[in-house]
Amino acid sequence: MTEAPFLAACQRLPVSPTPVWFMRQAGRYMPEYRRVRSRHGFLELCRSPDLAAEVTVTAVERLGVDAAILFADILLLLEPLGVGLEYSRNDGPVIHRPVRGPEDVERLPRIDAAAELPYVYEAVRLARKSLRVPLIGFSGAPFTLASYIVEGGGSRHYLHTKTLMYQAPQAWHQLMALLVDNVISYLRRQIEAGAQAVQVFDSWVGCLSPHDYRQFVLPHMKRLFQGLPAHVPTIHFGTGTAGFLELLRDGGGTVIGLDWRVDLAEGWQRVGFDRAIQGNLDPAALLASRDLLFEQARTILDRAGGRPGHIFNLGHGILPQTSVDQVRALVDFVHDYSQAAGKNG
Ligand code: CP3
Repeated sequence: MTEAPFLAACQRLPVSPTPVWFMRQAGRYMPEYRRVRSRHGFLELCRSPDLAAEVTVTAVERLGVDAAILFADILLLLEPLGVGLEYSRNDGPVIHRPVRGPEDVERLPRIDAAAELPYVYEAVRLARKSLRVPLIGFSGAPFTLASYIVEGGGSRHYLHTKTLMYQAPQAWHQLMALLVDNVISYLRRQIEAGAQAVQVFDSWVGCLSPHDYRQFVLPHMKRLFQGLPAHVPTIHFGTGTAGFLELLRDGGGTVIGLDWRVDLAEGWQRVGFDRAIQGNLDPAALLASRDLLFEQARTILDRAGGRPGHIFNLGHGILPQTSVDQVRALVDFVHDYSQAAGKNG
């Protein structure tokens, strides 16, 4: 069997057309998801392997994308740590017992939290049975997970997180080390269950200066990626990382995710052409006219210039206001345009 285009692109093998998938491709923008969600709570959905697998597979079938991403959430791993995770109706995720100081870090259980999430691995196994494209497993990165644990939810300025980092660096590194252990265990279990690639989401790490990234995050990312099996492609994703792309790359990852704040060709050059890249359309472009959407997608494909190792994606997740038809049209455009460009060039 020849290798799937997405997996080939991760290894920088030439493929035509350019493979494409989307972060949050299974979510509230999709009527099929909303229908399932109207009957089940979000955590209930994540804990039901048959439903999670169904939502994963439906998104792929509806969109015609080249990879599936497991339906789950980065915060599931935090639940066994006893911090009181809840998805509230209006405010997004809430952590009822946030970790603010060294005593709180001490109090976290030293357990293998990933062992408490068997439903995630069962969803991987079930989804694999009906998928004809590769399945991507995922986890939050330690910084982004720490930001939720420390802030108690989403945040604008990450002041509690930075306060812990600056005022109790030892506790900070302890917390990060504990999270790295758990993330490695979690991703290894997803891979054992059948995930063919894994993405690490460092969604909020762009709030840090390059100096702080180097000191407070980079060593942990290195240990994380070194702890994963070498034969499985890894995607290292962050947003707002244009100020320290080289450091993000040094952290590890077969593929580096770029957001739209950086020009793709410039970003790839800084990452180095010995890595694959993923991105980097602004998710808001899906809300624009079709002409503008295609123009922006064309620019990205032109900037990639047919160089092996580009996976088309957004620079962050699909927005809830997005129309499914618009996403489908984008998939077709990426496939048609990159294939035609490959033939002519
Ligand atoms: O990409 C996919 O289609 C797979 C599923 C997936 C979800 N969350 C489902 C979800 C993935 C990969 C995630 C990752 C995730 N979760 C991240 C990293 C990616 C990113 O967007 O930066 C983060 C930061 C979270 C935390 C989280 N989960 C938030 C902030 C929220 C609420 C806000 C929101 O976007 O809905 C969630 C809930 C969540 N996770 C939903 C979905 C489909 C919506 C829940 C619902 O149905 O109401």
